[in-house]
Amino acid sequence: MEVLFDLGPKDSRLELFDRDSELSRLIDYVGRLGMPITLVLGLRRVGKSSLILVALRELSLPHIYVDLRKFEERQYLSYRDFILELQREVNNLTRRFPALIGFLRGIGGVSIMGN
Ligand SMILES: Nc1ncnc2c1ncn2[C@@H]1O[C@H](COP(=O)(O)OP(=O)(O)O)[C@@H](O)[C@H]1O
Ligand SMILES: [Mg+2]
Repeated sequence: MEVLFDLGPKDSRLELFDRDSELSRLIDYVGRLGMPITLVLGLRRVGKSSLILVALRELSLPHIYVDLRKFEERQYLSYRDFILELQREVNNLTRRFPALIGFLRGIGGVSIMGN
């Protein structure tokens, strides 16, 4: 069967439809202005993940993308599951950019929602 619509988020500018202004704003905030935190908010399936993935790809900055959709069916996500996902992505990142290991060693701890 031919699949006309891919259900996953898009990650290339060519596939991202009608989001030029949002994309340039996000690229600006994260890239040129170097904002420490940028939130992309919107209803489910409106295209937030796609926008973020395309922006990260355009910026070609080292990044971690933690996709928690696989836990969607569960009632809650355990702290351990989240840490394991994070660990996997950090390992991917340091494999691609070994020079980042020194920088990451300097991080004393990360607090998420006070935990
Ligand atoms: N601007 C867009 N251009 C092309 N496909 C889009 C666009 N916005 C959303 N989609 C598609 O809709 C679905 C949901 O997008 P997604 O980025 O996962 O949304 P969100 O993260 O907001 O839930 C995906 O299949 C995605 O490819
Ligand atoms: Mg999403």
